[in-house]
Amino acid sequence: MQTEFGDKTMDESRQGEAIMVQPKGGHGKKLLLESYGCAMNFSDSEIVASILIEEGFGTTRNAEEADVILLNTCSIREKAEDRIRNRLLAFKKMKRKNPSLIVGVLGCMAERLKETLLEQEKLVDLVVGPDAYRDLPNLIEQVGTGQKAVNVLLSREETYAEISPVRLNSNGINAYISIMRGCDNMCSFCVVPFTRGRERSRNPESIVNEAKELAANGYKEVTLLGQNVDSYKWNLTKKGEVKDKNIPTVSFSELMELVAQACPELWIRFSTSHPKDLTDDVAEVIAKYDNICNYIHLPIQSGNNEILKKMNRGYTREWYLNRIEALRNIAPKCAISTDIITGFCGETEEQHADTLSLMKEVGFDMAYMFKYSERPKTLAERKYEDDVPEEVKARRLSEVIELQRANSYDRIKQYIGTLQKVLVEGPSKKSDDDYAGRTAQNSMVVFPKGKAKRGTLVEVKILECTSMTLKGELVD
Ligand code: SAH
Ligand code: SF4
Ligand code: F3S
Repeated sequence: MQTEFGDKTMDESRQGEAIMVQPKGGHGKKLLLESYGCAMNFSDSEIVASILIEEGFGTTRNAEEADVILLNTCSIREKAEDRIRNRLLAFKKMKRKNPSLIVGVLGCMAERLKETLLEQEKLVDLVVGPDAYRDLPNLIEQVGTGQKAVNVLLSREETYAEISPVRLNSNGINAYISIMRGCDNMCSFCVVPFTRGRERSRNPESIVNEAKELAANGYKEVTLLGQNVDSYKWNLTKKGEVKDKNIPTVSFSELMELVAQACPELWIRFSTSHPKDLTDDVAEVIAKYDNICNYIHLPIQSGNNEILKKMNRGYTREWYLNRIEALRNIAPKCAISTDIITGFCGETEEQHADTLSLMKEVGFDMAYMFKYSERPKTLAERKYEDDVPEEVKARRLSEVIELQRANSYDRIKQYIGTLQKVLVEGPSKKSDDDYAGRTAQNSMVVFPKGKAKRGTLVEVKILECTSMTLKGELVD
């Protein structure tokens, strides 16, 4: 069960992972680039690495041998920021021994705290927000001459569309493709609109080309990434008017079709969907294309209408249930996961019970569950009191987790006795004799290696399961 960490789509074991890339030669200085938070940040780090490798940097996992340390950070909950602060304090000690060491903060915490990280907390030399990575070589140079450097300008246009992310860290099988940046939704609990700026979609041609290039390089699966992929739009205004009559317009479902048609050999995933913007055409393309995975992440946050309203989510419980019904009718094989927050401002026991009852009604395959963490400057912080006591938040969270465990088990056990196509990702965490991979529905499957190879699709007969994992054997 996954709770209380950086973010979904990125498991706890990858938080703080360092990117490793073959150097291109040049000045040979060493970069330690660690990533925290959600998939968007991990994807951005590949762009940052790409920019700095061009400048002659090599990479390292070892802080002791680094000339430049960059942390790509997350602000989503207080805990995420605490973890980064501790890391920065450790580097500050290292700097006393090695004064030429450059330490910088990138990503959401950089954007949220701006100069204060430099001036008040004196923890870093460099602060660079998510839309300013092209400026990194200049800023690092500036720090090298003894100045502090900050660029936290947010952009309405930047999508890094033509920068080819370096992927050498990855397993060569799954890759992220960022299709949009920013978020315009202003959910009242959420810091992302402040840290990532306005929503903008990336040119569809550059997305399809990136997918084709990945397929040509042997990748088997891509995940199209955005904070709210259902509001992806190209050549359309927010209101849906055509911007330029000479250019085709592209919606999210059309983008998925373009990628699915251009790369029939790739499995295509996407994250995250927003219930208020999820239209039937998305479910229709999931059902229509074999290579679009039957899996959707559709965060509900709360099952109570009053809380949803205070969260500014833009939908009701009834609307959400209607979207689930549409998915189940149009794409019945689709597995559904969600995000839930417990103990939001003013949440009563009855309102919490509504979340539990919605979970029972939907029967999610999986969920990421969090205690509400108040974030400075958000609408909720300004408007509502964070008045649910910590122990109540925690108790409600454990009730939600317990129910989800039962739901997950109920959903996953339906696969026992079936044959499942599995994309083999690598050795299982527990045993070198076993491989682990995922089904289109995103269930983890573990099976004895036999003659299977990493990065191939195999057929596995499912024999048993836990609430999180299927176990089975290869079928010839
Ligand atoms: N764009 C995605 C979510 C991005 S953040 C969406 O709209 O669904 C990932 C998840 O973190 C959210 O779905 C929410 O459940 C959780 N989250 C965000 N802000 C939070 C906060 N202040 N406290 C606790 N959980 C939070
Ligand atoms: Fe945050 Fe809401 Fe945007 Fe998701 S949709 S990133 S929860 S503001
Ligand atoms: Fe965290 Fe920023 Fe992602 S706040 S969840 S890294 S968009």
